[in-house]
Amino acid sequence: MPKTSFIVVGTGNRGLGCFAKGLLGFPSKGLPEFKERSRIAALVDTNRTRGRVCAKELGLPELPVFATIKEAQLFAPAEWAIITTPDYTHCACVCEALGAGINVMVDKPLATSVMECDQIIAAMQKSERKVVVGHNYRYAHNILLAKKLVLEGRIGKILQVESAEILSLSHGGDYYHRWHSDFSKSAGLMNHKCCHFLDIICWILDDEPVEVSAMGARSYYTPRPELLHAERCTGCGIAKECPHYFDMDKWDGVYRRMYLEAEPDDGYVRDLCVFSDRHTVNDHESLSIRFKQGALCSFAMTTFAPREYSFFHFTGTKGRLEVGSNAEDGKPYLRVAGPNRKYETINVERDLGEHEHGHGGADIALMADILGLPGSHPLQKATPYEARRAVSIADMAARSIAGGGRAVKLEETGKDYPPAPPKRLAY
Ligand SMILES: NC(=O)c1ccc[n+]([C@@H]2O[C@H](COP(=O)([O-])OP(=O)(O)OC[C@H]3O[C@@H](n4cnc5c(N)ncnc54)[C@H](O)[C@@H]3O)[C@@H](O)[C@H]2O)c1
Repeated sequence: MPKTSFIVVGTGNRGLGCFAKGLLGFPSKGLPEFKERSRIAALVDTNRTRGRVCAKELGLPELPVFATIKEAQLFAPAEWAIITTPDYTHCACVCEALGAGINVMVDKPLATSVMECDQIIAAMQKSERKVVVGHNYRYAHNILLAKKLVLEGRIGKILQVESAEILSLSHGGDYYHRWHSDFSKSAGLMNHKCCHFLDIICWILDDEPVEVSAMGARSYYTPRPELLHAERCTGCGIAKECPHYFDMDKWDGVYRRMYLEAEPDDGYVRDLCVFSDRHTVNDHESLSIRFKQGALCSFAMTTFAPREYSFFHFTGTKGRLEVGSNAEDGKPYLRVAGPNRKYETINVERDLGEHEHGHGGADIALMADILGLPGSHPLQKATPYEARRAVSIADMAARSIAGGGRAVKLEETGKDYPPAPPKRLAY
């Protein structure tokens, strides 16, 4: 069987830890058959040190590392580009790959604005190449079962959705160590992080969001000089007691090799203190979303909770479907109630064995789908047209927050980059 060739663009956490290792069938990162099906032709990273570290971590120290996709395609051609660069670079990277004649798998979010999503869609149409978006949450077992139940008409036409993503101090806080807390790089955590959830809501509703009003604030990850912390975790005097301490030496020191030792290349620091005035993104937001076919949705994001959980609750003309993860043990659940008011709990437990790694096996299922291996549902592969919907909700929400919570319509987006939240809010 001929192997599918890939270049991995962006050799950081996701490029190396999920896709490169996964495609090469590293234990718990990919299926053993992946390496019979795939070949990595080259790596691309603007940080050459990190690119070289990635090659070594893969056990392929001779793998070529390039600074641009064009160069890689010239010297080490591939059929697919896996794009795992920061969100604000997705549009340029996807368009460059398509221009070089390569199919693309771009990790979520598709981009940082509706304007960029439209540029990607136009480039895709011109190139006639494929673009798949890494919305791996669609590959979670309970989410797929929920989608199927809604498709079967179990709860009728959905009229109302309540949903929330509650992130823990360690997960939510980690974004404030990194590039994600700069609005110009992520378009905020509603775009960067909640795009998974927003995509699932649009996917299950099979509908287009048309209007959003939102409120948001940054109230927890703010300057805390009384803590006497350092600028970064490495060498910080309060490292031992700080719940946000990021240890560059955890596991086998891979973060030290990937980030600390690559700092001289571009100055990027992976472990900046979370308590800072440099952030330009909110740490909690509440949205009201209206969909084209009439459904309404309220969605909340929190990034500083003691424990992590999430839920989507859909109420339709014939019943209610509740899917999510429990606050106490994090376990996924799915239950449906019909007009008789009785809840049916659906078993969503699966023994994934060694394939558990990577978002409950969802990353491996996504890669299998890209490699054309059986097992996934045709609806799980996210297209740019679909992925644009999640970005559009975040884009409308950013405009609404900047405008004090006013309702923003989809037509307002698409011409420019959304505004960052005001630094200080009146409430
Ligand atoms: N689907 C998921 O569950 C999931 C989870 C985490 C991250 N992600 C996505 O993966 C992407 C990468 O996130 P990460 O955490 O790996 O970030 P990272 O900072 O660890 O890695 C990004 C890499 O891209 C490189 N880079 C920056 N600009 C580049 C350019 N123009 N060309 C080539 N390389 C460039 C950086 O040097 C770095 O090595 C993001 O879009 C993020 O949203 C998805």
